Amino acid sequence: MKALVATDYQPLDRLTLAELPKPAAGPDEVVVKVEAAALNPLDLMLVTGAAKGLFPTEHPLIVGMDVAGTVVEAGAGVSGYAPGDRVLGFVGQAGSVAEFTVATPGPRLAHRPQNLDAVHAAAIPESGMTAVCLLRAVGLTGGESVLVIGATGGVGLYAVQLAHALRARVIATATAQDADYICGLGAADTVDYRQSDVVEETLKLVPDGVDVVVDLVNRGEGLAAVARAARPGGRLVSPLSGPDDLGRGVTPVYIGSFVPEPGDLEDLASRAADGGLRVEIGARYAFGDAVQAVADFAGKHIRGKVVITVP
Ligand SMILES: NC(=O)c1ccc[n+]([C@@H]2O[C@H](COP(=O)([O-])OP(=O)(O)OC[C@H]3O[C@@H](n4cnc5c(N)ncnc54)[C@H](OP(=O)(O)O)[C@@H]3O)[C@@H](O)[C@H]2O)c1
Repeated sequence: MKALVATDYQPLDRLTLAELPKPAAGPDEVVVKVEAAALNPLDLMLVTGAAKGLFPTEHPLIVGMDVAGTVVEAGAGVSGYAPGDRVLGFVGQAGSVAEFTVATPGPRLAHRPQNLDAVHAAAIPESGMTAVCLLRAVGLTGGESVLVIGATGGVGLYAVQLAHALRARVIATATAQDADYICGLGAADTVDYRQSDVVEETLKLVPDGVDVVVDLVNRGEGLAAVARAARPGGRLVSPLSGPDDLGRGVTPVYIGSFVPEPGDLEDLASRAADGGLRVEIGARYAFGDAVQAVADFAGKHIRGKVVITVP
C-alpha cells in the first residue's frame, strides 16, 4: 500500500509517498481502509523528532493519527466492529495518511453516523477529544467566563463551541479576518492576537479576569504570563505543560495526553452529524499532494483542520 512516510527523524520536506506492506489486524484490532486523514501538530513533531523525548518513534513512520474510513478486517476478539462498518478514530503511530491503517476498538474509535462524510469525520478525533478532555478537566460550568487562546486552530474551534454549549461566556483569540466566523460559533467577543496584547484586551472586557483560561498556544513561563487574564482563584487549562505556581491563586490544570471517556467520540460525531457541532475544514488535499498538505499545515495560517483524502 502507499503511505506518507518518514524514514528517520527528518525535515518535513523530505517526506515521501512510499510503498509499505498492507497492515494486518492483530488480536483486538481492526484494519481500516482510509478515506480521509487529518493532520495535528504532534504529527509534525514526530517527523522532525521535536517530540522524541516524550514520544519516540519507530521508522518507517507513517504520518497522521486521525482517520475516517471503513473496516475491512477484524482481528480475533474484536466485538462491535465488522468489515463494512464506517468509522472515525485516532490511531496513534499506526499512521493514517495511508491506504490502510490499524485501529483499536475503544474510546478512540467510533462508528460514523450515516450523514457524516469522511472528510468531516476525520477532522474530529484528536482535536475534538482534546477539547472535551480540557473542558472536563477544568470543570467548566454554565455562567463562567472563559478565554480560549488559539481558538481558530483544530482544538480551539471545538473548545469554543463546547464551552458555548455549556453556556459559558466565551472570549476567543482571532484575527479580524476570522472574528465573525468565531462569533458565529458562539464566542461573545474576540481578541486579535496579532494586533494587541491578549491579556490586556481580555481585562478590558472582564476587568476582574475570566474564570477560566484555555490556553492552546503557550507553554512553560508563557502560561504564567497569560494566567494574569484569569481572576484571582481562577483556573488555567493547557494540553501542554507549565509552572505549578501561576500566582494569584490561579489553579493550573495540565492534561498531558488526552484520555477520552467511552462515548466521547460518538457524541462528537453525532453532534457533527446533527449540525450541532461545526467542523471547519480549512484546507483539503488529494493523497498525491500529501507532502504539500504537511508543508502548508506547518507554515500557513489555516482556520480549522487540514484533511487529506485517500482514494
Ligand atoms: N496533550 C494532547 O493530548 C494534545 C492534543 C491535541 C493538541 N495538543 C496541542 O495543543 C496545541 C493546539 O493544537 P491544535 O491542533 O489546535 O493546533 P493548530 O490547529 O495548529 O492551532 C493553533 C492555533 O493557534 C493560533 N495561534 C498561534 N499563535 C497564537 C497566539 N500567540 N495567540 C493566539 N492564537 C495563536 C494559530 O493561528 P495562526 O495560524 O495564526 O498561527 C492556530 O489557529 C498544540 O500545541 C498541540 O500540540 C495537545
